[in-house]
Amino acid sequence: MELYIDTANLDEIKQAADLGVLDGVTTNPSLIAKEKIDYGKRLAEICAIVKGPVSAEVIAVEYSAMLQEGRERAKIASNIVVKLPSTVDGLKACKALSDEGIKTNMTLCFQGLQAMMVAKAGAFLVSPFIGRLDDIGQEGMDLIHQIRTIYDNYGFKTKILAASIRHTEHMLRCALAGADVATVPFKVIMDCMKHPLTDIGVEKFLSDYKKAFG
Ligand code: G3P
Repeated sequence: MELYIDTANLDEIKQAADLGVLDGVTTNPSLIAKEKIDYGKRLAEICAIVKGPVSAEVIAVEYSAMLQEGRERAKIASNIVVKLPSTVDGLKACKALSDEGIKTNMTLCFQGLQAMMVAKAGAFLVSPFIGRLDDIGQEGMDLIHQIRTIYDNYGFKTKILAASIRHTEHMLRCALAGADVATVPFKVIMDCMKHPLTDIGVEKFLSDYKKAFG
């Protein structure tokens, strides 16, 4: 499974990139608002650090404005992926941008049929939001399974980018379900390498060795 970091914070992106296993970055208007920095400027900074796909979301909600904004975002760097909402206007913009050779990430996907439609429109990525479905009492993971089945049934090439991941259990279950990519907050990335028995084991190896050899 590919690993993206879900943040617009440069320190977090640098630390995650330093791990050597980071494949890309996703941003959104809420994440950029936390950074209080011009969105285009921050995207250029991120693309200078990470060579894999960097998702840049449009603020526009209407088709022609989305197209214009998407084309502008795509000029920032060759690894920009234009992120569009999974709405009717977003679907049309996805088709138009994909036909122009601009990669898209269709975000805010909450049902399998949205994922099927955006795949038909040529989306590079689809972003099902697991945590937000859990928040309303649904089983977010079911959506990943549904989309995996639909895409495998018909050979769609769109990658499933599991989003709204809140903890390592989500991430583990995405890997088991065959999500192509998970976009994950910095803390959860770091949590992937934590286990109390690992820490206890390292300490024990070290103390045994010191006891024997000083
Ligand atoms: O990539 C989408 C993600 O940022 C949404 O996560 O935790 O705000 O639902 P969350």
